[in-house]
Amino acid sequence: MRRVVLVLPTTTYRAADFVAAAAALGAEVVVASEAAPPLAVSVVVDLDDPDGAAQVLADLDDRGPVDAVVAVDDRGAVVAAAASARLGLPHNPPDAVSATRDKAEMRRRLATGEVPQPAFTVVPAGGDVAEAAAVMGFPVVVKPTGLSGSTGVIRADDAGGAAAAADRIAPLWDGELLVERFVPGPEVAVEGLLRDGELEVLAVFDKPDPLDGPFFEETIYVTPSRHPAAMLADLGRVVAAACAAVGLREGPVHGEARLSPAGPVVIEVAARSIGGLCSRALTFGAGVSLEEVILRHALGLPSAGLQREHGASGVMMLPIPRSGVFESVGNQDAARAVPGVAGLEITIAPGRTVRALPEGDRYLGFLFARAGSPGEVEDILRRASSLLEVTIS
Ligand SMILES: Nc1ncnc2c1ncn2[C@@H]1O[C@H](COP(=O)(O)OP(=O)(O)OP(=O)(O)O)[C@@H](O)[C@H]1O
Ligand SMILES: [Mg+2]
Repeated sequence: MRRVVLVLPTTTYRAADFVAAAAALGAEVVVASEAAPPLAVSVVVDLDDPDGAAQVLADLDDRGPVDAVVAVDDRGAVVAAAASARLGLPHNPPDAVSATRDKAEMRRRLATGEVPQPAFTVVPAGGDVAEAAAVMGFPVVVKPTGLSGSTGVIRADDAGGAAAAADRIAPLWDGELLVERFVPGPEVAVEGLLRDGELEVLAVFDKPDPLDGPFFEETIYVTPSRHPAAMLADLGRVVAAACAAVGLREGPVHGEARLSPAGPVVIEVAARSIGGLCSRALTFGAGVSLEEVILRHALGLPSAGLQREHGASGVMMLPIPRSGVFESVGNQDAARAVPGVAGLEITIAPGRTVRALPEGDRYLGFLFARAGSPGEVEDILRRASSLLEVTIS
């Protein structure tokens, strides 16, 4: 029996889907997390100490071979890479994974690789963001170098706006800030898998809601993309070049790009698959999940050439409309009854304090749809989500 270590931060949405994928492959799972979960073979690791955690995982091998170490999301990715390196398993260089978690270092590597990306300036903690933005030229996007989920990502159209953005980010993040040129154009997300440095594009999602700021709330993702095939071919090449420039070689990749008239511009690449529960919008071959594709690759099982299912699919990340105490989402049955709705999961517990963007970092939940065409999927998601009654006090 194959044995896989799943690095599962306690905050992840994705434990169940990865555990189910391992079960589908008949693999034995060891959970590595900051706390021992109930009902699982587990080991406790400090995810903020990649070397120490990697050693703990490498030592597991003495008690039976470890065939793969897989991070289920961003937080465990450096640990998984470092542990795989110690065990002699195919892996990303840990420094490349770290670079994807530091937006300034990622920009520097993409620049070295001449990958199309926004013009950028790194402003040291406490530096003059308005001045840097004025030199760059407006509009700009100001963002923390080390947060995710669009937390603290703010567009500014003039020097006053840039200074205000920096003030608003200050309570969230006290490190370096990035000031980037705002890149207009439709945004897409790319799900890919790297095998020995070669990128296979598994799916491209369109994000049909305009992302023009000042805050960047992701809502609807729909696949397949409706952009022209030539643009999508360029997108695949640009994301592959971004992976190479950053140094990524193995495993899942989540890329985000804007499609400008001059071609795709990379917003970022991450050494992980799509976040939240969004992967449930993807099915390959005869009912294979994205998690199973990732585990198959990590375990050295055949996984190449699996096609995404026929038909269109999409997910809406239900935004947090305002800050407060979350009470309920009403009318869920009506939303579920809209033809084409494939699922609705509310992932915030009642009574929890929630924050809207740019301070927030969670979604209320996820709504899924499947239909014959991307346009229908988009309509279904809009119609069903408009029925939901969110109460925040
Ligand atoms: N230079 C830019 N030009 C245009 N839009 C941008 C730019 N930088 C960021 N954005 C918008 O803000 C969103 C979030 O930015 P970014 O991906 O850098 O941060 P993040 O916190 O990692 O977000 P997430 O975790 O949601 O991917 C992007 O998906 C994009 O819509
Ligand atoms: Mg992003």
